[in-house]
Amino acid sequence: MTTALIHTIADTRRAVAEARRGGSTIGFVPTMGALHAGHGALIRQAREESAFVVVSLFVNPIQFDRNDDYEQYPRTLPEDLEFCRALDADAIFAPSATEMYANPQLTFIEVSSLSERLCGEFRPGHFRGVATVLNKLFNIVQPDKAYFGEKDGQQLSIIQKMVADLNIPVTIVPVPTVREPDGLAMSSRNRRLSPEERRVAPVLYQALIEARSAVARGCAEAGAVREAALAVLRAVPQFRVEYLEIVEHATQQPVQHVCAPVRVAAAVWLGQTRLIDNVLAEPALAKQQVQYGSKT
Ligand code: PAJ
Repeated sequence: MTTALIHTIADTRRAVAEARRGGSTIGFVPTMGALHAGHGALIRQAREESAFVVVSLFVNPIQFDRNDDYEQYPRTLPEDLEFCRALDADAIFAPSATEMYANPQLTFIEVSSLSERLCGEFRPGHFRGVATVLNKLFNIVQPDKAYFGEKDGQQLSIIQKMVADLNIPVTIVPVPTVREPDGLAMSSRNRRLSPEERRVAPVLYQALIEARSAVARGCAEAGAVREAALAVLRAVPQFRVEYLEIVEHATQQPVQHVCAPVRVAAAVWLGQTRLIDNVLAEPALAKQQVQYGSKT
């Protein structure tokens, strides 16, 4: 199979309509390009589950809160094309900013409450830009299934809520975080790290693992769990912690006591690079309840 490179909305609609007429189910992987093995896991899973796989490559200007960050975001179209071809994607949708936002965009999607915390607090308007572009992309591609990484846990919860609230006919499929052998979550931003920053970067994951172990040992106070993770981060003076919180996934609200599975989520700065990561932490009792299928 060949991978079609498409730049316009009209041609994407045509390609998808033709596939659908042939009876294919449509799997969709939205990305901003600069593809790596994390994106690869999403494309692979889409390939396994859908007959026609569309990958979008679009650095979405309205989700960047800083213009220099938007300008500096890596753009690697030829390599991304090869990457998608190797994974046997059927179509790549790579629009220009003017194709996506031809007229001034006056309509925006706001998933309130969930978007205001964690990353939303430090990147005003970010999730409004993400929710809006995904609405547009879902309307263009009209996929049966769309694939998102657990690496961006807050983004995932916001999309799940948006799809439920607006009755968008797509199944959101979460895909586990892909990591480097030393634990660092793969990210397009990792290439900006200096060799020294790259060396210490995996400590972020170690801190989250420390919190997960504290929860698994039966530590029920969120404050103590948080402190255990922060102690690991403090050992590396280069880190500037933006936030580290123990939250419920569906609401992104912090919990006081850990009685059910939670997400330990953090954003840290290393020099000019902002890293985010999160892990699932389950108290021993909650694990048992899941195992025995009783959640009451
Ligand atoms: P981007 O950062 O390119 O990520 C695209 C998808 O890949 C997201 O669902 C993200 O969670 C997933 N991903 C990134 N790194 C991953 C890793 N190490 N393991 C597993 N999945 C990973 O997220 C965006 O783009 C944009 O906000 C977008 C959703 C495309 C809207 O513009």
